[in-house]
Amino acid sequence: MVTPRVTEDTVIAALREVKYPGMSRDLVSFGMIKNTRVEGAAVYLDLQIPTEDTAVIAKVEASVRETLGRVPGIGELHIQTAKRQAPQESAPGPAPLPGVRRIIAVASGKGGVGKSTVSVNLALALAQSGAAVGLLDADIYGPNVPRMLGEAGRPTAHEGKIVPLVRYGLNVISVGYLLGDQSPIIWRGPLVAQALKQLLHEVHWGGLDNVEVDYLIVDLPPGTGDTQLTLVQSVPLTGGVIVTTPSAVALMDAERGLRMFREARVPILGIVENMSYFICPHCQGETDIFSRGGGRQVSESLGVPFLGEIPLNPAIREGGDTGAPVVVARPESAEALIFRNVAEKVRLAAEAAAEAMPQMIIR
Ligand SMILES: Nc1ncnc2c1ncn2[C@@H]1O[C@H](COP(=O)(O)OP(=O)(O)O)[C@@H](O)[C@H]1O
Ligand SMILES: [Mg+2]
Repeated sequence: MVTPRVTEDTVIAALREVKYPGMSRDLVSFGMIKNTRVEGAAVYLDLQIPTEDTAVIAKVEASVRETLGRVPGIGELHIQTAKRQAPQESAPGPAPLPGVRRIIAVASGKGGVGKSTVSVNLALALAQSGAAVGLLDADIYGPNVPRMLGEAGRPTAHEGKIVPLVRYGLNVISVGYLLGDQSPIIWRGPLVAQALKQLLHEVHWGGLDNVEVDYLIVDLPPGTGDTQLTLVQSVPLTGGVIVTTPSAVALMDAERGLRMFREARVPILGIVENMSYFICPHCQGETDIFSRGGGRQVSESLGVPFLGEIPLNPAIREGGDTGAPVVVARPESAEALIFRNVAEKVRLAAEAAAEAMPQMIIR
């Protein structure tokens, strides 16, 4: 039997079958395989893995060796795993988004903790303080933003790019606005990445007037999956905000979300504890339904800023369900004030992070 000649394409094709641990996407589509070279039966390649977690690195290396070891004709295998470089020596990260000064991602390890609620009210509070603000609903599977900000028709196109809708002064984009109820329930991993990149790069974030957007808030889906990784690879994030609830499980998940940003060298702007306590609408007494204060503890133990506690309040849910978030529907309420305080802390932290390291993302 004649062994087929090994080429760079053979190697790449084989590695397309190797998924990044915990993700549905493969190493090739993530751009982690570099400088593939074949000399006779010897294969040389560089692995660029966006983590410092040695267990993950070892796992990826082992899967690459195992997969290529099964390819007929491959003899020696020379794999170099790129060490993370110090910021000053690193290649430049992803290019900035034209027309956008700062990009802030709102994340959590778990769903239902109030990421979208915080994203929307944070964006609105920043806009109330006079900033030009964009809001990107990056939850491709389950976009919440149209419900929270209300229906507003379909975005239009201008010179080949999408023009965001304007809701309460925010420039907004969501798959929900683009596809309406037609949004497919099941997206394949690579399609989600593609859709997200399109929502980032193919939008006139500054609107038709082309006003520079000071803050683009990105409302992420729960967890630490493909969307999160695609985002940190696609644009230079100024920082991440982690939302958690006081229950222990949600807090553990928050820590995971936090580690994800840290591995990708994205500054953590802070932790928000949502549904922190309950104010009785009848007696105004405060009840700690879950064990309040966990968010502050986590932030202290992990050394990141604590941004505030948001009470569990039917007005917040109603605002979200009726398309009139509490910050705009009841700007004088205690809740609106709390969101404005959180927003001010986020703004200061984002400016500080951007000052400290203009080229934060290292690849
Ligand atoms: N502080 C709060 N008080 C009352 N309801 C809240 C609060 N935060 C979020 N909710 C409600 O909880 C549900 C989940 O919140 P959501 O922001 O969609 O979470 P996520 O985006 O993390 O999945 C929504 O119905 C929302 O209106
Ligand atoms: Mg959400």
